[in-house]
Amino acid sequence: MRGQVRGIAPVADAARVICASDALIERGKGVRFTVDYQGESRPAFAIRFDGRVYAYLNSCAHIQVELDWLEAEFFDQSKLYLICATHGATYEPNSGYCVLGPCRGKKLVSLPVRERDGEVLLVMESDTNHG
Ligand code: FES
Repeated sequence: MRGQVRGIAPVADAARVICASDALIERGKGVRFTVDYQGESRPAFAIRFDGRVYAYLNSCAHIQVELDWLEAEFFDQSKLYLICATHGATYEPNSGYCVLGPCRGKKLVSLPVRERDGEVLLVMESDTNHG
């Protein structure tokens, strides 16, 4: 299932639903969405790893291209890392840190998400300062 959220903008004490929690299977297919980031509409994705949901801009730290090798497929074969389809940059799913490839040492841009009442929420800026 492909999640589509458009027009996300920072609103005080607000959050946007990305998808249902059960749409994100452990180390399985991700959910793509769009987010307003620094005034631009940008592609993003969420995945589940070790029980937690993580979300990142869908933009490689090497060159600004989307990572998925098939739509919403972000994990490598080992299911331990996220991988960029273009040149194989390999990222830790829980930090977005690139551990292998042309942008080693750089990071994906992480987006603040949390789960509540069976939904995955993108948490707006006013909430992110509270941990
Ligand atoms: S664009 Fe992702 S590794 Fe080069």
